Amino acid sequence: TMKIIMDTDPGIDDAAALTMAINDPAIDLKLVTAVAGNVTVDKTTANALKIVHFFGKDKEIPVAMGAQQPLIKPFEDAARIHGASGMEGYDFGDDYGEPIKKSAVEALHDAIMAEDEVILVPTGSYTNIALLFSQYPEVKSHIKKIVAMGGSISGGNMTSIAEFNVFTDPDAAKIMYNSGVPIVTVGLDVTLKALITSETLNALKTMNETGKMLYGLISHYNDVSGDGHPMHDVNTIFYLLHPEAYTTKKLWVDIQTDGPAIGGMVADIRGAYHDGKTNAEVCVDIDADAFNKWFLEEVSHMK
Ligand code: BDR
Ligand code: CA
Repeated sequence: TMKIIMDTDPGIDDAAALTMAINDPAIDLKLVTAVAGNVTVDKTTANALKIVHFFGKDKEIPVAMGAQQPLIKPFEDAARIHGASGMEGYDFGDDYGEPIKKSAVEALHDAIMAEDEVILVPTGSYTNIALLFSQYPEVKSHIKKIVAMGGSISGGNMTSIAEFNVFTDPDAAKIMYNSGVPIVTVGLDVTLKALITSETLNALKTMNETGKMLYGLISHYNDVSGDGHPMHDVNTIFYLLHPEAYTTKKLWVDIQTDGPAIGGMVADIRGAYHDGKTNAEVCVDIDADAFNKWFLEEVSHMK
């Protein structure tokens, strides 16, 4: 099994990504950390706890609270997309437990150092990871790779160039991309193609309790594209389990941290400026049918 740690800001697509990671037998989810992003960090932490508790994994999977705000840029949420709580559309009750006492950075440090090799999966902005790398650079050699939702080399969803997770904390993104840890970029280039179709959504509705929960959340998700909802963060988990469904390109990517292109990702597509060196494997295409089929198949095995 793959040992992974998720750093998230649930968020409806984060909730779906957690759902997949918690339930797939090929994945061993060691820790969930929360960061401010789609909503404030107290809410993203509560939402992560709700999903872990929904699947009865409170004992096995600790949840730790992380950064309240980006490193430098003022915090702006995305409640207009994910609703006031960040996870509208399903009643998880009031009793979903508490985060552990350790901060996200301390919890990440301890969980990563306890393993020889772990995969880090950020689906929010990268503030916790930037703080971790600055404070505890020794963790880097224990991270096999980072599979990160965020960025885009083909246009943004916040500005013409910037994607939300990178836009929220561009300074953190820059630190992560310059860290030397291998990174797979799962950005809008693929996530805007991996739509949950209305057919898939309807099939979820009556499948089981998990299907009902996801149906509720996704029906309240204001991220709509044509006939479907982009399941951005879920692509990190689909990539881990089915890399063959993605086409990737090794590139050097830089992050813009100020000016009108703030939060933008610039790829050296000709390899002209970095002596052919690369710092990311960028996902550029995906088999969207396979994604929908897999999504339903996964949920069909859940509670
Ligand atoms: C990203 O932004 C967030 O709103 C989503 O959860 C996803 O991580 C997509 O740009
Ligand atoms: Ca997210």
